[in-house]
Amino acid sequence: MKRTHTCGELTLDNKGEKVILQGWVKKNRKLGALTFIDLRDRYGTTQLLIDESSQKKFPEIKSEFVIEITGEVLERKSKNPDLKTGEIEVKVINLIIINEAKLTPFEIKDGLEANEDTKMTFRYLDLRREEMQKNLLIRSQVNKIIRDYYHRLNFIEVETPIFGKSTPEGARDFLVPSRVNVNKFYALPQSPQLYKQLLMIAGMDRYFQIAKCFRDEDLRIDRQPEFTQLDMEMSFATPEDIQNNIENLLAEIIFKVKNIKIKTPLPRITYQEAISKYGIDKPDLRFSLEINDVNDIFKSSEVNLFCNLKKNEKIRAIKVDSLLAKKDLEQLTEVAKQNSLVNLPFLKYSNNEWTGSLAKNLSDSEKQQLLKKFEIKGDCTILFAVGDFDISSRGLGAVRNEAAKILKLYKPEEINLLWVVDFPLFEFSEEENRYVAAHHPFTQPKEESLQDFDKNKSTALAAAYDIVMNGFEIGGGSQRITNENIQKRMFKAIEMSNQTVEDNFGWFINAYQYGAPYHSGCALGIDRIVMILTQASSIREVIAFPKNSNGIDPMTNAPDLVSTKQLDEINLKLK
Ligand code: AMO
Repeated sequence: MKRTHTCGELTLDNKGEKVILQGWVKKNRKLGALTFIDLRDRYGTTQLLIDESSQKKFPEIKSEFVIEITGEVLERKSKNPDLKTGEIEVKVINLIIINEAKLTPFEIKDGLEANEDTKMTFRYLDLRREEMQKNLLIRSQVNKIIRDYYHRLNFIEVETPIFGKSTPEGARDFLVPSRVNVNKFYALPQSPQLYKQLLMIAGMDRYFQIAKCFRDEDLRIDRQPEFTQLDMEMSFATPEDIQNNIENLLAEIIFKVKNIKIKTPLPRITYQEAISKYGIDKPDLRFSLEINDVNDIFKSSEVNLFCNLKKNEKIRAIKVDSLLAKKDLEQLTEVAKQNSLVNLPFLKYSNNEWTGSLAKNLSDSEKQQLLKKFEIKGDCTILFAVGDFDISSRGLGAVRNEAAKILKLYKPEEINLLWVVDFPLFEFSEEENRYVAAHHPFTQPKEESLQDFDKNKSTALAAAYDIVMNGFEIGGGSQRITNENIQKRMFKAIEMSNQTVEDNFGWFINAYQYGAPYHSGCALGIDRIVMILTQASSIREVIAFPKNSNGIDPMTNAPDLVSTKQLDEINLKLK
């Protein structure tokens, strides 16, 4: 290459050398007779110096021009210890403009607060910013660690189709009409799930893939319609084998990227315990704040809210070690209401005094029991939810997360990982008025549910597990059904007719008649992991070309209209 060095590598060791650098003008400032230019590329920034005598020789340059300079490396008078190249500057002997640049719509700098759509319209400029480059570099590093890890363990990387078959269950599919096969559609894969199971039947034994997945869901900070999974599957492996494999991989990633040692084996808690203690199946355990049942304390209470409980109604509560200010309580009440709670009644305790919306009719015995139950030693606030167990738990779960944020109960760079195991096999869909598979219909029921999972659907457990990092579900997997009879019972349990099963999954179930090893697997959301590792605020920040919250790419304007000719070719007419 013509350049002798990048903009991130010259040090005092290069003093006196003649160098050629190429890059973007980050900053250009005149100080008396001297001009200083910061020249930037992916590797860093180097200060260039143009003295008065040379100034007239060189063309005028502006920010974001791409230039090439020849120059001599000098020791800097005022050194910048924060910069790898901070001890030197390059005195420019020759300067040529490779390409000029218009005034950019926003300044290329870290901590930029430009409008999201403007940034995405000019994504290539946004990606010039150091923090965005760092995100993509870490993403690339994570991909490499994953590939090295699996090759080391004798896994093979197999690519599976992007054009597949639309099947019921799961999220909504993205459809692709076929021109050659009139009126027929491919579906983009929501994950390579069925293909990887077929690879096990094909005898591949250990499979992995860094796979693109597509789901037509509403977007959130941790959801994109198109995202990337590390997908893996192992034959003759139990859920424990998979969990060990995945947690060792994550420990390696976190150590190599963040230099943080994660203690393995990771904690495992059951789904039931997660909901009961933290109100959510992806608890953030960087802080404790457990939810407690306090029905016993208020058995014969005179507090209005507690005396007319209906059967099965629960009183649940969390204690925070702080006297929450009015505005914090308002913020938490708002979160409670957004999460189906009617209100967020509270008690405050300070200097032996109880105050707050429930304090008036609180008996001495109740006060004593509260002190004991919550091991109260100093000022605190107790937040309550009353009603259905699930609703109160989930509501308080959201309040718990918000309270931890308000009270800064964790360090942003901290990392916490855990497994949530023993998920329910089914969940009831109000929309469809039937039980649907909670994970997917190929998930093996747990040993203890094998006998009666199709009868006791509300309590049946799955051999399924999720891995949670800082309150985000970063991955999930299960042992798969490999027995035809169990599979048939499963389809029946989710009220799928024989015809629907045959039409949609016949091709898949057939494979099981030719010798299937038992197998288990898992998939990790790479976007989410990189988001957490880089402390980005959304997975959009770690995807080179993401979609905005409406599923649009403002740069290319995809999705867009197509011509009538194109529609004719695929035999489609718009409504
Ligand atoms: P699951 O549906 O749990 O499992 O997905 C695995 C992981 O993928 C990530 N993820 C997403 N990331 C960004 N945007 C999305 N829209 C999105 N949806 C999911 C999450 C999630 O934990 N085939 C099974 C895995 C298996 O059983 O082996 C599957 O796809 O981090």
